[in-house]
Amino acid sequence: MAVALIVAAGSGERLGAGRPKALIELAGRPLVQWSIDALREVPGIDQIVVAMPPRAPAPAGVIAVDGGDSRSESVRRALAAAGEGDPVVVHDAARPLLTGELVERVIAALEGDDRADAAIAAAPVTDTVKRVDPAGAVTETLDRSELWAVQTPQAFRRVALERALDLPAAELARATDDAGLIERAGGKVLVVRSSEENLKVTIPFDLRVAELLLAMRRGPRG
Ligand code: CTP
Ligand code: MG
Repeated sequence: MAVALIVAAGSGERLGAGRPKALIELAGRPLVQWSIDALREVPGIDQIVVAMPPRAPAPAGVIAVDGGDSRSESVRRALAAAGEGDPVVVHDAARPLLTGELVERVIAALEGDDRADAAIAAAPVTDTVKRVDPAGAVTETLDRSELWAVQTPQAFRRVALERALDLPAAELARATDDAGLIERAGGKVLVVRSSEENLKVTIPFDLRVAELLLAMRRGPRG
């Protein structure tokens, strides 16, 4: 059986709500609760561990641990508190539009390739992306056909994730996703086509969009 880790311990600086992002109320539930509820629907997952901000109340029905100083440190702490489960699904609480269906597809992709160490949700980039120097001048236009915007959920073989996270805290702090650590170690990471709807709540604008999308899912009667 699989285990799911939700990282929810960030402070939400860019959202600027004056309290941790995971605790912000979104369409009637704390932001983190949307991810917990989506993961609960997945039959292959029998345990959910959530890395929470210090002193935050623990959500019901999950194992809660204190998060660390960086995202990857929070992943490491959550993994240390998890039982035997393998594969390990990692998800950011900042993506409340997660669906059980996407989690199942990510796990299935990993299980369908013996050589893969991870399978990650991602969407092709629609904007043209340019490299810009510190003075504000463009130095390169990247080939968009090769670019994917990476999301969570990300599913990992447990030993690959444990090895990837076995790094000094300063190096862990530089990682923006765990799959990047696997790639660095020469591991094989598969991409699973996801929807742009699985958006990340970073700034107040994202919170408004997420609220609208969740209201639409609930249907016209709310
Ligand atoms: N996260 C975490 N522990 C940290 C930092 C981040 O568990 N020390 C989690 C966040 O709670 C979030 C995910 O990692 O679910 C992605 O991080 P991000 O969107 O950057 O959230 P914050 O760090 O909270 O936001 P900000 O960077 O604006 O402060
Ligand atoms: Mg952050």
